[in-house]
Amino acid sequence: MEVELTRIGYVEPDAEYAAGVRVLLNDAFPDGAPNELDQYYSRYGTPTASLLLRRGQRVIGHLAIFLRRIRIGNDDVEAALLGEIAIAAGCRGMGLARGLVQQAHEYLRERSVPFSILFAFEPRVYESSGYKPMRNLTRFRDADGEWKALVYRGGMYAELLDQAWPSLPIDLCGPAV
Ligand SMILES: CC(C)(COP(=O)(O)OP(=O)(O)OC[C@H]1O[C@@H](n2cnc3c(N)ncnc32)[C@H](O)[C@@H]1OP(=O)(O)O)[C@@H](O)C(=O)NCCC(=O)NCCS
Repeated sequence: MEVELTRIGYVEPDAEYAAGVRVLLNDAFPDGAPNELDQYYSRYGTPTASLLLRRGQRVIGHLAIFLRRIRIGNDDVEAALLGEIAIAAGCRGMGLARGLVQQAHEYLRERSVPFSILFAFEPRVYESSGYKPMRNLTRFRDADGEWKALVYRGGMYAELLDQAWPSLPIDLCGPAV
């Protein structure tokens, strides 16, 4: 059966695919998984766009794009944070996550967004999509509400246009997603 890609803003709680997205995310991120999608959204904010992969009625892939003005050194820069990247068990290892990231990059390049950032459990997954370890001192709002500054393990960036990623301290101006 064909895999179908859909791009939406965010997952409305009563959307036909909402339950499928919830199951997918809760299976992929079992630690402290919230039961409802709006709990994801209250953690990280509402995504600017969400990409879904569906096979028939089943949701088998998800990626959220958060556009955010961050600070790099003394400059305000529009960047994307990619989060909630999940592929259903049984559909992994087929290039679906790589395809979702590629689609996200296309969306971002069309909007002239120079950088994409993500926080990987497994950095190796994103290397072929152009992500490199982010060694910048990174300020962000932690889950406990405190602002912290550290070199974030698993933090990665990709250059989407012709702008080079600077080695300056950055401020995510919000949570890491
Ligand atoms: C991580 C995850 C999204 C990968 O999805 P996937 O569709 O299997 O990944 P792909 O098949 O597109 O593989 C992309 C690359 O990652 C590599 N890869 C995939 N899973 C990997 C793993 N667990 N460890 C190391 N490398 C892995 C593939 O070999 C491939 O490498 P290549 O592009 O150089 O050939 C999926 O396993 C998942 O949902 N896991 C649970 C949730 C999770 O951990 N999300 C990531 C949060 S950062």
